Amino acid sequence: MWHMLLKIALLSLALEQSSRCGAASTYNNPSSNARHFPSDFMWGVGSSSYQIEGGWNADDKGESIWDYLTHNNREKIVDQSNGDISADSYHQWRRDVQMVRELHVTSYRFSLSWPRIMPGGYMNHVSTAGIKYYSNLIDELLKYNITPMVTMYHWDLPQRLQELGGWTNPEIIPLFKDYARLVLEMYGDRVKLWTTINEPWHVCEHGYGVDYMAPSYNFPGIPAYLCGHNLLKAHAEVVHMYREQFQQRQGGRIGITVDTSWPEPKNPDSAEDREASERAMQFYIGWFAHPIFSKHGNYPKVMIERIRNMSKQQGFGSRSRLPEFTPEEIHRIKGTSDFFGINSYTSNLVTPNGHNNTGKFPIPSFNHDMGVVESQADVDWPGSGSVWLKVYPKGMYNLLMWIHREYNGPEMIITENGVSDRGGLEDYARVDYINLYLSAVLDAIEDGANVKGYITWSLMDSYEWKAGYTEKFGLYHVDFSSPERTRTPKISARVFGNICKTNTIDWSFRPKLNEEQLVASARLPAEEAAENGGARLKWSLALLLSVVLAWIHC
Ligand code: NOJ
Repeated sequence: MWHMLLKIALLSLALEQSSRCGAASTYNNPSSNARHFPSDFMWGVGSSSYQIEGGWNADDKGESIWDYLTHNNREKIVDQSNGDISADSYHQWRRDVQMVRELHVTSYRFSLSWPRIMPGGYMNHVSTAGIKYYSNLIDELLKYNITPMVTMYHWDLPQRLQELGGWTNPEIIPLFKDYARLVLEMYGDRVKLWTTINEPWHVCEHGYGVDYMAPSYNFPGIPAYLCGHNLLKAHAEVVHMYREQFQQRQGGRIGITVDTSWPEPKNPDSAEDREASERAMQFYIGWFAHPIFSKHGNYPKVMIERIRNMSKQQGFGSRSRLPEFTPEEIHRIKGTSDFFGINSYTSNLVTPNGHNNTGKFPIPSFNHDMGVVESQADVDWPGSGSVWLKVYPKGMYNLLMWIHREYNGPEMIITENGVSDRGGLEDYARVDYINLYLSAVLDAIEDGANVKGYITWSLMDSYEWKAGYTEKFGLYHVDFSSPERTRTPKISARVFGNICKTNTIDWSFRPKLNEEQLVASARLPAEEAAENGGARLKWSLALLLSVVLAWIHC
């Protein structure tokens, strides 16, 4: 109770103070006037197949690399859990659509599980049940005028294909194309917004370079680049196929979603730190975006040169660890996206990796090739439920403006942005995060960035990969101990719903728990209820600190 009172007192102090202090900092000013988005702005909410569906072996679904990893290496998952049942969207999809409707979004971004549709990865076996599952979901969304935005690949590769080397084997290119052709044939009459692959950097570097995501190769400096090479070609083949055989008839659009945190120069006055920031952008985003969105295509020059030189020095001879595209391939990949999908959550401070790249990274490795050290140690940005995620909305502004400048003003859709906590329904920290990040998006739009949509992550609490169920990103709480995986809106669901309905950020809209939420709140498991209180306390202290700083500043 006392922290509730403290928070109310602090909030009123903060509101009073910020109105006195004026707009000293756009991103810390909860009293900013309501701000409006363009009338055609697209609002959405997202999820992905492995994270929410469960039904891991329902009907004839095949094993995915995440089924394999979580069943065979439980110790790699923080709480040793898996997505076998997760939020059980395989059965609860009608409730999911109801939630999407409650949020007043115009679009729902979800992904298709390749092994649910083609259990072994090949077209010799297509699952009727798998096809039907997504078909029902799409129909239900359309019934309520919600646009499905479908990702073909969000990390759950059929395990059988991994046994062939997964994305490091060029055979993946025709296989991905066969899978894509089938889903375009099955759903393209109703799905008008497609992305091929979610977050290629994570697929390749976290899957193959380090032991982080399935398939956990932990083989630095070589297979991630093979993965990237095949992935770009597979993406381009699918887009060409769509454009040649489907687009005219079906009238949809297709693109890709890349991701990065914003690399803020550690010392903005240091030319070296600014260069490190630029290099990080080229390595994280440019690796995949330069071949597709730049004027001349191909990998960024700085990647080609650094990896070629280092490969030589490291004794790899004249063949760079970064494979080369032929001129025909460069041409074929260039321009293969109808929009720029971007996922981003946070920022890092960056500086070069020691003098002459002599810092601590393994040699060879992606990080050593990039030669940039990232950290969040020296920042006072508020934290979240994930160690890697700190709140720095200006980073979102900087990132959008960088993409705008670098790729000549492409149409952008923010395909993921959101924040984690450790549970509970009173997620005011998420409300503040969304308001703050949306303010930064609006600033970028006002400064010319062509941002056409914002899709928040995530519709509901779900399986957060290696963090298992410990980190919650949902606007809806899921009771993972109830057989029907009961979903309850958090405060953020009501606030985001209001934003989408009114097209407006309204800082004054901070509802309290309603009756339904109070009942659900009483049923929260003890750890989550405690987290709720803990989070409130931490947020109150952060607010107190910002009030004090605002006073000093004034
Ligand atoms: C990006 C991924 O696409 C998504 O699957 C994940 O849950 C979020 N980041 C949060 O970590």
